Amino acid sequence: MDIIFKNVSYTYQVGSPFETTALDDVSLEINGGQVTAIIGHTGSGKSTLLRHLNALSIPTAGELKIGDLVITPKSKEKEVSALRKNIGVVFQFPEAQLFEQTVEKDIMFGPKNFGVSVEEAKKIAREVILAVGLDESYLEKSPFDLSGGEKRRVAIAGVLAMEPKLLVLDEPTAGLDPRGQREVMEMFMRLHKEKGIGIIMVTHNMDDVANYADTVVAMSQARVLFHDETINLIEREEELRTHSLELPFTLKFYKELKEMGMPIYEPRLSIEGLAREIKGVVENG
Ligand SMILES: Nc1ncnc2c1ncn2[C@@H]1O[C@H](COP(=O)(O)OP(=O)(O)OP(=O)(O)O)[C@@H](O)[C@H]1O
Ligand SMILES: [Mg+2]
Repeated sequence: MDIIFKNVSYTYQVGSPFETTALDDVSLEINGGQVTAIIGHTGSGKSTLLRHLNALSIPTAGELKIGDLVITPKSKEKEVSALRKNIGVVFQFPEAQLFEQTVEKDIMFGPKNFGVSVEEAKKIAREVILAVGLDESYLEKSPFDLSGGEKRRVAIAGVLAMEPKLLVLDEPTAGLDPRGQREVMEMFMRLHKEKGIGIIMVTHNMDDVANYADTVVAMSQARVLFHDETINLIEREEELRTHSLELPFTLKFYKELKEMGMPIYEPRLSIEGLAREIKGVVENG
């Protein structure tokens, strides 16, 4: 499901004293099979961009294409709601939306709403609880008795239960400890690789960008600054700094080595890749 924004603008609370343009003439093409990171300073419009992907917000101007569906300011809720079957959105702190008595019921809620039988929904709940790295015993627990990280996983399981083709994630690891962050990100990457689910994620963590994203969309003040392959960030350090953003650690380190005169050949995004480059220089030089 590829996504094309054509001159999309979005304004909150039109005509009120709180009127805010959160997207300003955004044109953007996202390959729905890849992992795309969206970065930008607070208030730059990242979450608003995501809200358009499952039609929680409809453009105030311009046009948005998601797969075959065209969304314009005239689109009606009824026409666009089918999107929500294919696009799973994990908002910031999704655990706040858990509400059923048991984890199983919470996970079954979405599929049942889309007409899946109780039996089938139970089967799906078993599959997705395992997919998020918890065992079946969790299904009988109350979501409110779980740790923060466990709640996050249950909320994500509820999104996976809809069998989305595309996952849209708004700071999916915010508030988790470093280990929880890594586990949740690796879970998403496993789903991406094994099931071919595309991922669009907002993150403030540039190392997650380096480790996981194929391309990066940078936003500033309701506009898209650039959309580029992750490795090309190396050419954009100044630009990033101007907008209170920075390079991922591996690219920063590569530049330092280069500036110190080390004859290192290629920049690498992963720690392992960078270490291999350095080893090559040490052994050959
Ligand atoms: N419901 C709303 N009513 C009015 N203005 C809003 C509303 N929601 C967001 N805004 C404004 O729209 C702009 C973009 O907000 P958005 O939440 O998309 O930013 P963001 O990039 O996700 O920020 P953050 O990194 O803090 O999550 C901000 O100026 C924000 O104050
Ligand atoms: Mg946000």
